[in-house]
Amino acid sequence: MPKKNPDKFDVIVIGAGPGGYVSAIRCAQLGLKTACIDDWRDKNNQASPGGTCLNVGCIPSKAMIDSSEKYHSSMHGLKEHGIEIGDVKLNLKAMHSRKDKVVKELTSGVAALFMANKITFVSGRAKILADKNVEVIGHDKKDSQTIVADNIIIATGSSPKEFKLAPFDNKNIVDSTGALEFPSVPEKLCLIGAGVIALELGSVWRRLGAEVVLLKSRKNFLPEVDNDVSTEALKLFTAQGLNLKAGVKITQCKSEAKSVHITYQEDGKDVSYKADKLIVAVGREANTKNIFDKTLAIDLDEKGFIKVDDQCRTNVKGIFAIGDVVGGAMLAHKGSEEGIMVAELIAGHHASVDYETIPSVIYTDPEIAWIGKTEQELKTSSVEYNVGKFSFSGNGRARASGATDGFIKVLADKHTDRILGVHIIGPQASELIMQAKLAMDFSASSEDLSMTMFAHPTLSETLHEAALSVDNRAIHAVQAKKK
Ligand code: FAD
Ligand code: NAI
Repeated sequence: MPKKNPDKFDVIVIGAGPGGYVSAIRCAQLGLKTACIDDWRDKNNQASPGGTCLNVGCIPSKAMIDSSEKYHSSMHGLKEHGIEIGDVKLNLKAMHSRKDKVVKELTSGVAALFMANKITFVSGRAKILADKNVEVIGHDKKDSQTIVADNIIIATGSSPKEFKLAPFDNKNIVDSTGALEFPSVPEKLCLIGAGVIALELGSVWRRLGAEVVLLKSRKNFLPEVDNDVSTEALKLFTAQGLNLKAGVKITQCKSEAKSVHITYQEDGKDVSYKADKLIVAVGREANTKNIFDKTLAIDLDEKGFIKVDDQCRTNVKGIFAIGDVVGGAMLAHKGSEEGIMVAELIAGHHASVDYETIPSVIYTDPEIAWIGKTEQELKTSSVEYNVGKFSFSGNGRARASGATDGFIKVLADKHTDRILGVHIIGPQASELIMQAKLAMDFSASSEDLSMTMFAHPTLSETLHEAALSVDNRAIHAVQAKKK
């Protein structure tokens, strides 16, 4: 019998984002000898596990979203509550410091969890060699080491896509990371793209006082969202001052000393706009460059994402890939669930991820959240369905707090009444959607939700009423009786 190499790991995870670090922790919990390699360094050149999400994504963006909402509501939202305050002053430096502190607390927390779970954390850049050897080059590029495992989990994430006409200069033309670091509020801010990042970060700087223009090549706004929701969102965001130009063709972006000169065609006419800053947010691409040795033929798709089966196996036995690097929904929680699934599989257990009910959220004000099928998807798939809809304006709690914009829409199968999709635009949509997630995971019908007692007064009652409305029997709306 061959001798077991005592230095060999059961699992090496490459990448310590929400895919990789969660996977490493689950591997360790399952008794697997685990190493996790990550190359992220923070502003002080310290290793900073947590990946895009904790360092420059989910967490710092939400910190800025919450801070900017507080600033904006203290300027414009308190008077109606009978609160009058004096001059409100923005201290952007302090706002950034708070955001940085939140990030540091969480990335340090990941490092502490690694230690507590006896995970070997290696800071450096990994490259997979033959026979599941992994070379790690240290940050200073001087030291290198090679470690080996029976299994490898690739969780190297994604990076912002560049837009050819506007290459990032980290000064005036920036990606989402640069957009979280502006030292002062730009007077005029232009964004290329009107997707999740552009809407969240465009809203931050709008609330802090910038004039905001979003340029987008395609006509349709938020195509992945239910049409009723995207229509309502466009109306609300336009009223907030997000100036969306859809279906335009950008022809030139010239970075000047302190501004960017953008030229685009709108309805056949040339338009030019001079912005202080330009944020490019046209999607993200897989981090697959230089992570494999040439001898290792791991299959990639035409866009460079790693090809995997529905349990995240690559074409090479014992090598798995999870999170953004495999494409699909580029969301932290999707990567984490894949990471847990792969850990379970390696430990010899059964596991799967339900890709049909991934909750999605856009953290605008109001928030947008959805799960399952949109109405347009059901139409094209010829599934027969019923619709229930209820507005937050009919909800007592929403009225009490003065957040009445938006609605909840429930789509249920016409024959079985099983819930097929739930779509929310409104206050705390990010929290409310999880009630729909639980209901759908337990195969609930709209009647199941209708028969559930909801506490009063809560925003959740809007979901109750939307479910009742599937059968035209919402209590706080006048609905024609179902025939
Ligand atoms: P990542 O988080 O990208 O982590 C990959 C890690 O691997 C990184 O640390 C990287 O440095 C490291 N790495 C790469 N190559 C190597 C190598 N060769 N050797 C060693 N290490 C390597 N998602 C949400 O669900 N909710 C949100 O609210 C949200 N907000 C976002 C806001 C912004 C501004 C951005 C940019 C993204 C946001 N996302 C959000 C998306 C989310 O951040 C990603 O889906 C998530 O981080 C993907 O996790 P991951 O583990 O696959 O990869
Ligand atoms: P996105 O795919 O959401 O949006 C890209 C936008 O760019 C679209 O509006 C598209 O029409 C536009 N676009 C593409 N090419 C263009 C061109 N040539 N000219 C003009 N416009 C063009 O990607 P985004 O916003 O960069 O986000 C990347 C990923 O990060 C998303 O997949 C998302 O899942 C994730 N993310 C998630 C968040 C959340 O869950 N709340 C928050 C932020 C990011």
